[in-house]
Amino acid sequence: MFRIAYVNGRYRPYREAAVHIEDRGYQFADGVYEVCEIRDGRLIDERRHMERLQRSLAALQMAAPMSAPALATVLRETVARNRVRNGLVYLQVTRGVARRDHAFPSAQTPPSVVVTARRLDRGRHDREAAAGVAVISVPESRWARVDIKSIALLPNVLAKQAAREQGAREAWFVDRDGRVTEGSSSNAWIVTAQNRLVTRPADQAILRGVARTVVFDVAKAHGLEVEERAFTIAEAYAAREAFMTAASQIVLPVVRIDGRPIGEGTPGPIASALRHDFHLYAEAS
Ligand code: PDD
Repeated sequence: MFRIAYVNGRYRPYREAAVHIEDRGYQFADGVYEVCEIRDGRLIDERRHMERLQRSLAALQMAAPMSAPALATVLRETVARNRVRNGLVYLQVTRGVARRDHAFPSAQTPPSVVVTARRLDRGRHDREAAAGVAVISVPESRWARVDIKSIALLPNVLAKQAAREQGAREAWFVDRDGRVTEGSSSNAWIVTAQNRLVTRPADQAILRGVARTVVFDVAKAHGLEVEERAFTIAEAYAAREAFMTAASQIVLPVVRIDGRPIGEGTPGPIASALRHDFHLYAEAS
């Protein structure tokens, strides 16, 4: 089947879908993005993803590229044209096309908007979650505003590649104090011996993940307490359970960190329960 992308007002077959070489996203990574899960044809937590998009745009002094209802229509139309029932929709907004100059172009420069949608194999993801995944730790090397969902992801790309080369699914960034910030494309969690969930506070050192926010609600419904505090990598090695969260994988149990088995070395009951009930608490639209 042909894949279709939305590019600046038009729906185009992939091979014709292109942006200008002087797009500021291409030249400066001057843009922001969102990734939203599609499940049974519905967008999951669209409201929260769109709120975060607005925050990212505002942080970079970029105007919204179109009205919220128009953007909602484009997302749905892209999903529909690609016939995605279960997958992801990707949205990217950059500061548009202008002669290369670091400072912002004129305020009249229209932003560039790209939307794509792709299928995910839910069965494969469920099998991966049932087995649990490995994580490596890497030194934090990103800028000080990773709360902005910017398309500038080079440290994340390098970290993910390092993980892959070591047979791991994800890399957890560790700051200078030995504390985990988050994964290269996910938030990081542990479960303590007292069955308390621990995840880093959503300050400027992590992205406030939408799946992370949903897990707070799932945990509450299960009577589990969440401690929002930084945890060390040493604490993670000794944790009863560990897991990560993101729109693309919901809750994924972590069974090894830097080669050390976590807990029993198999997916823990808490991470598995949070994954199981996730969509009871996420918003489908
Ligand atoms: N990544 N932290 C980072 C650095 C991320 O890139 C992501 C998401 C998250 C989790 O956010 P959410 O729960 O809203 O998906 C945390 C997306 C999926 C990506 O880059 O593909």
